[in-house]
Amino acid sequence: MAAGHEPVIADSHVNSRASVLPRLEELSGTRIESHAFDLRDVDKTSALFADGHFDAVIHFAGLKAVGESSEMPLEYYDNNLGTTFAILRAMERHGVRTLVFSSSATVYGETERVPMPEELPTSSTNPYGWTKVMQEQILRDVAATGSVQVALLRYFNPVGAPPSGRIGEDPRGIPNNLMPFISRVAVGRRERLQVFGGDYPTPDGTALRDYIHVEDLAAGHVAALQYLSTHRDVQVREWNLGTGHGTSVLEMVAAFEAGSGQTVPYEIVGRRAGDLGAVYADATRAEAELGWRATRTIEDMCTDTWRWQEANPQGYPA
Ligand code: UFG
Repeated sequence: MAAGHEPVIADSHVNSRASVLPRLEELSGTRIESHAFDLRDVDKTSALFADGHFDAVIHFAGLKAVGESSEMPLEYYDNNLGTTFAILRAMERHGVRTLVFSSSATVYGETERVPMPEELPTSSTNPYGWTKVMQEQILRDVAATGSVQVALLRYFNPVGAPPSGRIGEDPRGIPNNLMPFISRVAVGRRERLQVFGGDYPTPDGTALRDYIHVEDLAAGHVAALQYLSTHRDVQVREWNLGTGHGTSVLEMVAAFEAGSGQTVPYEIVGRRAGDLGAVYADATRAEAELGWRATRTIEDMCTDTWRWQEANPQGYPA
């Protein structure tokens, strides 16, 4: 919105709360059109497009927990592929030609090569990751017909919150991901962090990830929209959204303690199944082609997460 776009939201709220909407309106100073339904519903999705006169779609809809995806694979395939099918049908029917897709670094599978360039082959080790690999393939095939142009944005580890502290990450139940877990320990909702693995071949033995501030991630989407609108001949292109730097779990704990002034008790336990020792992006393509690069630091990620968590210890109102 700050870049001049007028978004319309569609969200089933399966992993979010409708009470975020008044806060978005407060931050933007405008009313935001929002629809609560499941994007797998082809008729409802198509009806939204019939009324919307949209220029582009940013497709974020999907389930995203790696462990859960092995327990309920059918839910993951149905949700993540089903939303993509309904959105593509609605776009086709209503002549919308531009799509920005939330993909993931998980499509690089088990490679040990770092930094990871976009040219690496794609694969996966879990149903969640396969849904991203499959969605990328579906989007490539549809883009090849010339009916849509697609940006595949491969997120590394998005964390943080806008500096207002009014909106932020509020996962339901026990957080799967590192940053929301740390911030719940810091705010007193969980006793201690379990650090999964202290014996990786990294400087301090804990795993390295490429954490990217969510505001930088958002700017990457704006840059991709801009690119597609000025490169109409491009059918499909993939870009990593990362910083190009790895941060260890213990470095993140230390940065969070410094940024929040809270102690984050932790214990080092065994490795989590399926985790890699080092995952970070080769972020040069996005800079060269989109003119985008991440500018926020690990310290920004920690202080912005803490500002949100401290002001909203229980997350969004129910
Ligand atoms: N970690 C802990 N303790 C926790 C949670 C995480 O030590 O309680 C560690 C993990 O072992 C890993 C690092 O913190 O080394 C980051 O873990 P996250 O779960 O936050 O992120 P991942 O890198 O495992 O997962 C991310 C995305 C997935 C994506 C995956 C693979 O969240 O969507 O990258 O690219 F599939």
